[in-house]
Amino acid sequence: MPLPALIPQPQRCTPMDAAAFTLTADTVLVAPATLAPSAQLLAARLRTATGWALPVVAARPDSAKSIIEFRPADPALVNPEAYALRVGADRVTLTASAPAGAFYAAQTLLQLLPPAVFGADPRPELPWTAPAVEIEDAPRFRWRGMMIDSARYFQPVGYLKQFIDVMAQHKLNVFHWHLVDDQGWRIEIKKYPRLTAIGSKRRETNRGHSVRQLGGDGVPVEGYYTQDEIRDLVAYAAARNVRILPEIELPGHAQAAVAAYPELGLLPQAREVSCVWGIHETLFNTKPSTFAFLQDVLTEVMALFPFEYLHIGGDEAVKKQWQEDPATQAHMKQLGLPDEEHLQSWFIRQIEAFLQKHGRRLVGWDEILEGGLARSATVMSWRGIEGAIAAARLGNDAVMCANQTLYFNFHETETPETEPITYPLPLPLAKVHAYEPIPAELTAEQAKSIIGVQGQLWTEYIPTPSRMDYMAFPRTCALAEIAWSPKERPAFPDFLNRLRTHLRRLDAQDIRYRAPLEYLPAP
Ligand code: ACM
Repeated sequence: MPLPALIPQPQRCTPMDAAAFTLTADTVLVAPATLAPSAQLLAARLRTATGWALPVVAARPDSAKSIIEFRPADPALVNPEAYALRVGADRVTLTASAPAGAFYAAQTLLQLLPPAVFGADPRPELPWTAPAVEIEDAPRFRWRGMMIDSARYFQPVGYLKQFIDVMAQHKLNVFHWHLVDDQGWRIEIKKYPRLTAIGSKRRETNRGHSVRQLGGDGVPVEGYYTQDEIRDLVAYAAARNVRILPEIELPGHAQAAVAAYPELGLLPQAREVSCVWGIHETLFNTKPSTFAFLQDVLTEVMALFPFEYLHIGGDEAVKKQWQEDPATQAHMKQLGLPDEEHLQSWFIRQIEAFLQKHGRRLVGWDEILEGGLARSATVMSWRGIEGAIAAARLGNDAVMCANQTLYFNFHETETPETEPITYPLPLPLAKVHAYEPIPAELTAEQAKSIIGVQGQLWTEYIPTPSRMDYMAFPRTCALAEIAWSPKERPAFPDFLNRLRTHLRRLDAQDIRYRAPLEYLPAP
């Protein structure tokens, strides 16, 4: 009996020698109050795809012939994201100890139904069957993330909702939102309106890749997310078991903020919101008034994002402006610090202490290891895996984000001339799927510090949602398998096989993925 084409591959999936389940206009959903929200979301999806408004009730009506039943499991026994799913001829049971597991059981059930279940139009004429199976499933990693850069280019909220939907279908659970950078500040901060009035606007965008002489495109880019939009998106994501991790960059990647409030920077004349890509020199200064500003900003950010983690960037802060500024040099000496790396480490520790006071945990890119790592920090290892190894050896948590395997803004092949413009580094789908997140260098004890894995979508060369889809999928499908499936998961050819069906699920949602090269005839 063939296994159903599920992505990510579950821990255990056993096809049963029994008749398939058939969804009908008379199917009833049954759920206890704790699991009812997942049942309601499932009923809403089924209604869109079939046209049938199936009821969600607390107890099974005696007359019901076809039921989809959510059942609570012993909460002491199971990971809250774990679930069991049993599909029989007239009954589907979804068992979980918590809403997250119930939500994931429903996601797996959707994948057992025809791909049209992900569509936008009702199709009651289709055979709405799901094969008889028994599935037991739980995630390998608790942090299963995707990062979107909304600073370089930003995406409509509607697109971000769709992206979160698709993340949730893949059982990904952290949406890392890169909200500010040298080229744009995209989050409304009530106390500092110039951050968006000035910082969210750039005159134009440099054309080409690393060829400044081509000049700008003359097209202004401006926009930001209001606090109301953000609250709405956070709630939307939470209903789908996705936490949003906001990133507020410091002490570098600060040019849009300093353009808005020059007193936060180090130059007599602040630079404009940047219109070019690449690493910039603009840093925040180390004055008490700048820390007061950052604390005010983070206070508003914490009020919007309930996730216990908060990302403070920390990457690519070249130290030139601190080296050349006499007041900063005097401050460094007064603090007794030997160099600017230690000054950055001191800077981050100030922020860490503030976040800790508010019950939040600091996340930063792996440069936060330089000059001494803040004790409670979680490190995102992006320049390879060394940052994660160093963090784990210090007893700090780490998330694997290595650019060589997890930067989905890199193109896929070895031939840049056949690829859209982006960073000219190849990252084929097969390489993503083959990735093993736990570094071999770590002991079993240290490996526990690797809390998960995350894909990145930097948007310097991703100006539109369709280009975002093209870069993100199907590599994000492979990421889901790395992050969720057991270490001993089926090999790439099996994944490619399941992906044929899975891509039809993305088609049903109008996701503009890139066709896997493996499916195309040789040129
Ligand atoms: C990064 O790619 N600068 C984290």
